[in-house]
Amino acid sequence: MKLGVIGCGKMGSALVEGAIRSGAIDPENVSGCDAYPEAANIFAAATGATVADSIPGLNADVYLLCTKPNQAGSALSALPEGDALLISVAAGLTTDWLEARVPAGVRVIRCMPNTPALVGKGAAAFCSGRAATLEDAEVAKSLLGSVGLAVELPEVLMDAVTGLSGSGPAFIYIVIEAMADGAVRAGLPRAEALKLAAQTVLGAATMVLDTGLHPGELKDQVTSPGGTTIAGIAELEKHGVRAAFIEAVTTAARRSAELSGS
Ligand SMILES: NC(=O)c1ccc[n+]([C@@H]2O[C@H](COP(=O)([O-])OP(=O)(O)OC[C@H]3O[C@@H](n4cnc5c(N)ncnc54)[C@H](OP(=O)(O)O)[C@@H]3O)[C@@H](O)[C@H]2O)c1
Repeated sequence: MKLGVIGCGKMGSALVEGAIRSGAIDPENVSGCDAYPEAANIFAAATGATVADSIPGLNADVYLLCTKPNQAGSALSALPEGDALLISVAAGLTTDWLEARVPAGVRVIRCMPNTPALVGKGAAAFCSGRAATLEDAEVAKSLLGSVGLAVELPEVLMDAVTGLSGSGPAFIYIVIEAMADGAVRAGLPRAEALKLAAQTVLGAATMVLDTGLHPGELKDQVTSPGGTTIAGIAELEKHGVRAAFIEAVTTAARRSAELSGS
């Protein structure tokens, strides 16, 4: 597979660095181009990939579209005709929209990654366009899977994914900040409070993923009768934390649908 990266910014670099680190792809088989040539040079220095001076110059069979959504149209119009796969990470651009703009022979897969992909802990979903094959889906899964979790879902669920794993990191940053504020109020220094809060979120998430236990069961395991944890939980329930998170995810999903016109 020869991978051509269109747009060597944050997401393009993170995905390619992850894919190379995991052995999913060899840097010799990757080239990148960017509207801002210095970005492509930095990308090449970080990854060992080569730089192309134009999109046709990428000469790839798999293209990774990593421009901002409003830059995607002009990038797609420069794609050469022929047998190739386009994997787009541009938020909100549907497979219909992409298919209407790619030249004949180019198959399409749409992805929704999230920013923790930048540190190898992403949570991404992808969906296939009309002409994409099972093999194409495997290529997308292995690329996205090299920087975290990757799941295939029907396109109709992409807005829900955006509301959950796309917007979710920001929701959890607020949780971490607020828990640290509580700890500072209780006397902890700010730096230690933030580290302990972040590590607590990481640990709890790892418990859910690694044990496969329902979060409610894990919560029950650490909630002793008349203890500290149930006192804190009662406070969270009094303030409607569950309802707030349910509303946050569904409202973000609704906003994603409004923005993408789906
Ligand atoms: N960052 C995230 O966490 C995240 C999460 C989910 C989805 N996404 C999606 O990922 C995409 C990229 O985001 P990003 O944060 O990586 O953006 P970014 O850092 O701004 O990178 C985009 C790069 O593409 C370049 N570019 C624009 N038009 C081009 C063209 N025709 N040919 C070649 N290169 C071109 C841009 O050049 P200029 O600097 O000259 O504009 C820029 O360097 C977006 O569509 C976003 O919706 C990102």
